[in-house]
Amino acid sequence: MLSDLNEIEQEINSFPVNSPEELENFRLKFISRNGLLTGLFEELKNVSREEKPVVGKKLNEVKKLAESKFNTLKAQLDDTGSKKEDIDLTLPAASYSIGREHLISQTLAEMVKIFREIGFKVTDGPELEEEFYNFDALNTPAHHPARDMQDTFYVQSTTDKDKKHVLRTHTSPVQIRTMLQNKPPLRIISPGKVFRNETVTYKNYFMFHQLEGLYIDKNVSMRDLKGVLAYFFKKFYGENTKIRFIPSFFPFTEPSGQVDISCFICGGKGCKTCKETGWLEVGGCGMVDPNVFRSVNIDPEEYTGYAFGMGMERLTMMKYGIKDIRILYQNDVRFLDQF
Ligand code: DAH
Repeated sequence: MLSDLNEIEQEINSFPVNSPEELENFRLKFISRNGLLTGLFEELKNVSREEKPVVGKKLNEVKKLAESKFNTLKAQLDDTGSKKEDIDLTLPAASYSIGREHLISQTLAEMVKIFREIGFKVTDGPELEEEFYNFDALNTPAHHPARDMQDTFYVQSTTDKDKKHVLRTHTSPVQIRTMLQNKPPLRIISPGKVFRNETVTYKNYFMFHQLEGLYIDKNVSMRDLKGVLAYFFKKFYGENTKIRFIPSFFPFTEPSGQVDISCFICGGKGCKTCKETGWLEVGGCGMVDPNVFRSVNIDPEEYTGYAFGMGMERLTMMKYGIKDIRILYQNDVRFLDQF
């Protein structure tokens, strides 16, 4: 009987259990009331007195072995019936790379933070925009050169032939959407992607980001505009940054200005970055044109407002001395990892 027990012991050890069915077979074969071991316990009474202690001890050992294997295997089989992996909770976690925010996203977040702190709300608009919002309502009539196919990506809708769509060429249409949906006073910024059908070079890309600003209330003046932009650029480029306006033209503002900041590299003395002028162009701005107010049913006699728009790639490239816009969108981690 001892040799039987040794054989059974080996069998128990090598019995394959990878599924609930196999576990049940194991139980039936060794542990159940009709199993091998129960049978051997009954046979124990036929064993001679001298042998009994040894055989009895062995039998108990083998029984314990079977039971403990059964319990271990049972615990290892999870709900799905497949075998769980042994997990060593003391092992250090596998490391993985989580990447980082793109440089332009970082700039966006920084700009938004500065404006939010002084009460601007963030709004959003679609990148695929109706021509009406992108041009008409912004006092940019049909013959205006800004609508030229060479700059604008037109998109033909197959379902709505009457409405012409464009990939928005600027974030200014969000001004219109905001003013149509809300009553003044309004103080919003709107960051996002814009698209222009440009030849890609070191300074032009077919997609870039702008941040639009709009403030409408009673008695808003150019002084408010200058104050808010001066505040922003001091925060963004440093306390010593000065700003100036240069007369310019945009269909949706009157008067319109180009915004320049004093060169933060040379402090205004003149260097390569500012082409020896001491100034850097950073955006466009102006007082909202009465025609724009009329297109959104706001009374220009009652309200005035300012608007501004700036390009994030340009601000970012100046800040970090990046010379080629394309590198921002080549997804080369050796470049992106630096920020
Ligand atoms: N939308 C203009 C552009 O893309 C930028 C701009 C200029 C926005 C003047 C404004 C503004 O809100 O007042 O070139």
